[in-house]
Amino acid sequence: MKILGTGSAIPKLEVTNDDLAKFLDTNDEWISSRTGIKSRHILSEGETLTDLAAEATRQALADAKVDAKDLDYIICHNIMNDRCIPGMSCIIQGIIGATCPCVDTNAACTGFIYALDHADALMKAGKANKILIICAEQMSMMIDWERRESCVLFGDGAGAVVVSNEGEDCAVKVTACYTPALNCNVKQGDTPFRKDTTTYDKLEMAGREVFKLATHNSCNDIQTVLDASHTTASDVKYFILHQANLRIVEAIRGFLEQPEEKFPHNIEHRGNTSSASVLLLLDDLNKANKIQRGDKLVFSAFGAGFTSGACLMTW
Ligand code: ACO
Repeated sequence: MKILGTGSAIPKLEVTNDDLAKFLDTNDEWISSRTGIKSRHILSEGETLTDLAAEATRQALADAKVDAKDLDYIICHNIMNDRCIPGMSCIIQGIIGATCPCVDTNAACTGFIYALDHADALMKAGKANKILIICAEQMSMMIDWERRESCVLFGDGAGAVVVSNEGEDCAVKVTACYTPALNCNVKQGDTPFRKDTTTYDKLEMAGREVFKLATHNSCNDIQTVLDASHTTASDVKYFILHQANLRIVEAIRGFLEQPEEKFPHNIEHRGNTSSASVLLLLDDLNKANKIQRGDKLVFSAFGAGFTSGACLMTW
């Protein structure tokens, strides 16, 4: 599997840590020293998640020089969509004029790695040659804006790639392990017929425990895909990691004993955009011409579930 093109889009509104401190008991020093985040982009009046997903898709198709009609599948990953149904994959299909099958998936922040795993399987089964993967996330809709320990972490954004079955074999590993103690939960609300005794419909999260498991799983996943492809960390050009916390990126870098320049990051001005984060970073690197054909890239992400995964791919 090979990536033919990338695209990304973020909302117009940039919200700084100081902006948050106007309505939350927080400050720039706490947020940036614990997470690396200085600002994030949040959807506001007049723009939708669909707009972002469509823009990221248009860029990815143009970069890949692929016509929408030549796509064999669209996989869209999102935790929350503008609508429950239809899936965003179908909405984007309509916007770009594709005719292929479409599906939406949800593996929380690990979504891009899961989508790559699905795309790889579809290609190996001979069911698709060119697949559009979109990760579009509106975390601002599901976070509790009164919970300072979590709302400061997230941002909105969308990324897209076109992958094809040309290129070298990739190694993908995905995991899931239901772990309620992490409290990575967004529950459903009440209905007229059922009262939930724990009617909490916004994100709650046990930050420290997530931090530890995320670091542990990512190191494991990355080592697994390196071993599976008989590659060492030194052979890898970039480790493009889920942008959840700069300290997690640093911890993984320490485990792999690799130089800082191999661990690009943009969390400073994006925050955690869930499954879109790896794609936003990949697109930044691609647009800056920092990746050459033949470079080995490792993607790795983790999220609610608890899910995690890594993929080693040659650009
Ligand atoms: N501003 C100021 N103070 C704060 C804030 C804030 N925004 N949030 C919490 N605090 C306070 C706490 O109340 C606590 O105060 P206390 O010591 O008086 O009780 C203190 O700061 C320390 O809080 P900790 O939780 O111990 O801080 P920690 O250093 O662990 O950092 C953080 C918290 C940033 C959440 C970290 O644990 C983390 O990044 N965890 C990983 C989260 C993650 O990656 N999530 C993404 C995957 S999950 C998903 O997919 C939904």
